[in-house]
Amino acid sequence: MAVTDTGGSGCAGRSVVVTGATGGIGAATVLRLAGSGWDVIGTARSQEKADALVAAAAGRGLALRTVVLDVADAASCREAMAGVEEMTGGGVWAVVNNAGVPQAGAVEDVSDEQARHLLEVNLLGAMRMCRLALPGMRRRGGGRIVNVSSGLGRVPWPMGGWYSASKHALSAITHCMRVELAHAGVRVSLVEPGAFATAMLDRAVADLTSAAPSGGGAGYDHSRDLFTAVNRRVPGPEPVARVIATALSVRRPRARYTVGLDARLLIPLHTMTPLLLSDRVKHAVTGLPRTTPAAPTAGMEVVA
Ligand SMILES: NC(=O)c1ccc[n+]([C@@H]2O[C@H](COP(=O)([O-])OP(=O)(O)OC[C@H]3O[C@@H](n4cnc5c(N)ncnc54)[C@H](OP(=O)(O)O)[C@@H]3O)[C@@H](O)[C@H]2O)c1
Repeated sequence: MAVTDTGGSGCAGRSVVVTGATGGIGAATVLRLAGSGWDVIGTARSQEKADALVAAAAGRGLALRTVVLDVADAASCREAMAGVEEMTGGGVWAVVNNAGVPQAGAVEDVSDEQARHLLEVNLLGAMRMCRLALPGMRRRGGGRIVNVSSGLGRVPWPMGGWYSASKHALSAITHCMRVELAHAGVRVSLVEPGAFATAMLDRAVADLTSAAPSGGGAGYDHSRDLFTAVNRRVPGPEPVARVIATALSVRRPRARYTVGLDARLLIPLHTMTPLLLSDRVKHAVTGLPRTTPAAPTAGMEVVA
């Protein structure tokens, strides 16, 4: 296990591990937390990325520590968290499960292997990080877990069905953990970002581009254009980092934080709208046709 230690003053002696700290929301979060005096440990999938993160922090006059791990690999998480326990002298006070991957495409076009990887990262990875951090939190009499879901963790989104499913599952498990862990003094929050400009949306566009659609490709071009346009227009990830920092810092964190106007509008609208109507909206937004195209009739014979 590779550990980089550039110091770290600690926020009232509190250490936090943030997964997926090399870009997007994770990077914005670790920089914000380091700037507020937390003892931040960001995870990266390679030493090069870890070094780049430490350098980016140093460029801003900030110190943070890193560990190399892949949340989809149980052994790598175990090894890295053993190192973290050593570095922090007993384990972290908080875990931010931010690492995530998209998986765009029609549900039937996503292979078992792709679906398994998605669930390994977005769901099982988060849970194994909690499992590894909880003994230390219990010993200390408390701690904090922040799981980064998505607005699509409450709104099933066609052409992103597997991603939505992974975040729905993460959301369900987070709400159960909050009740299960309250007596241990561990507060558990869910963060539901809307769309923010990071590499995630580019990766979703890449999924749509490399897919081999089995149903004639309906919805693919439209969704690709939609994700590309959204990524150009939405703000950077700092608002999400701010909310994660709040969930870690306040005495009584909320069970759920929804971030971004799109998510704050979409979720209640979806909840209140009858399914038939919400299906129509999804057809319109994704470009997926509502009806079978009329079959050509000219020259067809009717067989009695
Ligand atoms: N951006 C949005 O619009 C949006 C909206 C809703 C929810 N979210 C959620 O926010 C979280 C962060 O996403 P982001 O937008 O910041 O995306 P991002 O820029 O692509 O960052 C994802 C991070 O996760 C890491 N990661 C991916 N697979 C991993 C693995 N197997 N093990 C460890 N780390 C891994 C990536 O590392 P590498 O650099 O090595 O790939 C990267 O640091 C995700 O959970 C995502 O689902 C994002």
